[in-house]
Amino acid sequence: MCGIVGIVGTRPVAPLIVDALKRLEYRGYDSAGVATLSEGNLDRRRAEGKLVNLENRLEFDPLAGNIGIGHTRWATHGAPVEVNAHPHFSTKVAVVHNGIVENFRELRTELQADGFTFSSQTDTEVIAHLVAKGMKDGLSPEKAAQSAISRLTGAFALAIMFGTDSNLIVAGRNGPPLAIGHGAGEMYLGSDAVALAPFTNRITYLEDGDWAVIRRDGMQIFDLDGNTVERAQQTSVGSALMVDKGNHRHFMIKEIYEQPEVIGHTLAHYVDFNEQKVALHEMSETEQPIDFASLDRLNITACGTAYLAGYTSKYWFERLARLPVDIDVASEFRYREVPMSKSGLSLFISQSGETADTLAGLKYCEAEGQHLAAIVNVRESTIARSSHSVFPTLAGPEIGVASTKAFTCQLSVLASLAVAAGVQRGHIDRERETKLVAELSEAPRYANEVLKLEEEIRQLAHSLANKQHILYLGRDTNYPLAMEGALKLKELSYIHAEAYAAGELKHGPIALIDEEMPVVVIAPHDRIFEKTVSNMQEVAARGGKIILITDPRGAEEAGMDGAELIVMPSMPEIITPIIYSLPIQMLAYHTAVHMGTDVDQPRNLAKSVTVE
Ligand code: F6R
Repeated sequence: MCGIVGIVGTRPVAPLIVDALKRLEYRGYDSAGVATLSEGNLDRRRAEGKLVNLENRLEFDPLAGNIGIGHTRWATHGAPVEVNAHPHFSTKVAVVHNGIVENFRELRTELQADGFTFSSQTDTEVIAHLVAKGMKDGLSPEKAAQSAISRLTGAFALAIMFGTDSNLIVAGRNGPPLAIGHGAGEMYLGSDAVALAPFTNRITYLEDGDWAVIRRDGMQIFDLDGNTVERAQQTSVGSALMVDKGNHRHFMIKEIYEQPEVIGHTLAHYVDFNEQKVALHEMSETEQPIDFASLDRLNITACGTAYLAGYTSKYWFERLARLPVDIDVASEFRYREVPMSKSGLSLFISQSGETADTLAGLKYCEAEGQHLAAIVNVRESTIARSSHSVFPTLAGPEIGVASTKAFTCQLSVLASLAVAAGVQRGHIDRERETKLVAELSEAPRYANEVLKLEEEIRQLAHSLANKQHILYLGRDTNYPLAMEGALKLKELSYIHAEAYAAGELKHGPIALIDEEMPVVVIAPHDRIFEKTVSNMQEVAARGGKIILITDPRGAEEAGMDGAELIVMPSMPEIITPIIYSLPIQMLAYHTAVHMGTDVDQPRNLAKSVTVE
């Protein structure tokens, strides 16, 4: 989703801004632009498509100036063409914006009546004209910006630069994140601390409703009434390294290969392998521990892949801890006016910690007086900072837009929490805890084993490339995993894929089965393996081509002549969702590579979805 960068500097900033924008590329975008102020002239370069197009433009037509703002745009209002790319200009004003100005139509009508002409289809352009109007009416740039921001409804993060002041950027936030970076004689602004890592690790995050005046020698933050507000300066951790692909062709496959290590790190944070018990990490002074024994309900809210991690854990919490779980996609939960239990826990799962719908779900639960817990990968994110208890995933920066290692780390945290809940609620005795912990500790080793299947999976993926539709089936925890498989495949390869609980097939979807329909079945040999075999037989009887992901015993007992097999090692049941994620990720990855799609930044997708 859109990325913002701003620099009030002491050297030419355009190349620095483009470099910082590159660090935001992972968010997903379809056009980019940069504007600078030099000798009283605001000027800009914009380009459709990737940042390389903007770089080429700047090479032929450079921008001078020691102050500037830049943007990567993920189109919401108006097509991803140059005229809609940011920065947007009005008289002596330049603006970049992330989010949606919901009242832009009425503001546009009002500004048109005042004589302003619009050159784009974006909602953002109203902000530039509103600020210019304020300045025309005699307000200072800061006051004009404050007045404009106070008229906007919706979610936004924005940066405004003025043709009249070469030492001023105004930033505003209501929703999407904004980080202010403190340098020596220079100040920076970015959508996250990663973008600013080459310049500084001293960061101040704006809160919702804040706006800031940023000058070379420092910054001041205000609320919308103009009162000064204090926000702590933090030292950002872990963002300084410029993440690269190493020897891998794509970030996605690199991140798939990182899984044995990051799953191990994450588990070690929640499990004491020496004592063979779950040991939820120490909380900071401001965090609140969770008493699972006193809970009567767990409510989980998330989006996309994070939602599917939550869905998997419903089976774990209900089975291991006898704790009823409601699981919802955040975009539905936030408007459903769900009655919340007074003794409930609300858990939010998010890699980025900035997903707008998940954050809105959190705000709803906050207003309902719930204990708020979060599983996040970005520890400094808004969702982490807004929660009473935070459970970090230790996946490291995830750059590929399609989530892989964050998902398996979320599963690792959730499995540990479910065991902890089972122990606290008296459903898991010491002996069973020891056994479950020993089983969890095996996850990194099995993940390593399974990576060795890559070549086999790569060849199998060729048979999926160019198919029109693919079905995924699974039962129990393999059902959400089937959904994750279908999601990965469609987002990366653009092949239509759907997942069903295997037993649900006969209630409609079986009508789709013919010789052209590959069906991926995820079925380790477990208690209900026989049931899934029956469903596979129903598919085979109708000519469907089966790809079965199972273990040696499953392969032997399935008796599916003609099925393609991915044979996984036999492993303990609790870790199957974590380990079986790897073949479905590799299957989607290699299908996409074979089809030549943009694996790390699939079309239309954004990594951090900060609009609803
Ligand atoms: C799919 C994917 C998305 C995200 C979703 C939530 O591969 O990555 O479905 O899982 O957009 O994002 P976070 O976890 O950042 O809240």
